[in-house]
Amino acid sequence: MRYLLLLLLSLPLTAQRTSFTPGGQWLDTDGNHIDAHGGNIIYVDSLETYYWYGEHYAQPRGAACYSSQDLYNWTFEGVVIEKGDIEVFERPKVIYDQANDRYVMWFHYDGDRYSIAELGVAVSDSPTGPFELVDHYRPNGHESRDIGLYFEPDTRRAYIGYAADHVNRTVRMVELSEDYLSVTENDVDIEAHCEGPGILKRNGTFYLLTSQCSGWTPNPATYYTATDSVMGPYTERGHPFVGDAGNNSFNSQPCFIFKIPGYRNAYLYMGDRWNGRGRTESEYVWLPITITEDGEMELHWLAEWDLSLFTPARGR
Ligand code: DGJ
Repeated sequence: MRYLLLLLLSLPLTAQRTSFTPGGQWLDTDGNHIDAHGGNIIYVDSLETYYWYGEHYAQPRGAACYSSQDLYNWTFEGVVIEKGDIEVFERPKVIYDQANDRYVMWFHYDGDRYSIAELGVAVSDSPTGPFELVDHYRPNGHESRDIGLYFEPDTRRAYIGYAADHVNRTVRMVELSEDYLSVTENDVDIEAHCEGPGILKRNGTFYLLTSQCSGWTPNPATYYTATDSVMGPYTERGHPFVGDAGNNSFNSQPCFIFKIPGYRNAYLYMGDRWNGRGRTESEYVWLPITITEDGEMELHWLAEWDLSLFTPARGR
């Protein structure tokens, strides 16, 4: 009897997952709703671990961190920064600063009716926090709301795409300083519209995916491409969600594109299914992004899928 009890106590609370089920209920390894919306994922080589950051709607509110070895099963690592008096704390994005072995988080810092419209930046020595607020401001004087992040592995430079000006009239792209802790003056209007920017690079072409601007209600996304630089110029290409009967990006809004290490051209679309407003139970729509031979971006609906869809590459 005693052994049976010990055995039961040592079993995980939820069954191991081996696939993604876009839009379905997603529980962490303790059996609670994963509460990390509008965020991003990093992979830290030295720790052989993925970290997922996002908006945490349960108390305390702020940004949560989850860790995983396989992208399917996530362990809650806690709220790594509390929003405290900040009225609106949205879309946290973390970069690992390898040179200084620390973690930098950028987020949308805002107040009443989204009128402050700033970037916030915080830093931590550990992927699981705590992150300390460093600063918050309008980048080069521009209003900034939804943000996306692109990290260039060749140069180790990072860029933030931000919904800018009044109200989210356009997307601007700004290059971060070498230590990722501040913005540079390399900051351009890339004339894209207008929220939830996600960026990937394939064969030297940059792909920018954005949603329109309709609060928490999903809408048809648009993608843009640029051949020279992540700073543009960008050309509008169209709606990449194929067979999207609801014309609402499979009922989701983009938040990040994660290039999965260890596979060839494995781009993971991370979208939020807000279901009316941001809350703990808002779901996640994760799907593979295809870049066709003609250089077109496509997303197809899959009710369930796993990483065997991608071709393994040598090394991470
Ligand atoms: C759309 C944005 O993408 C979300 O992050 C959030 O700011 C809502 N608008 C608020 O209405």
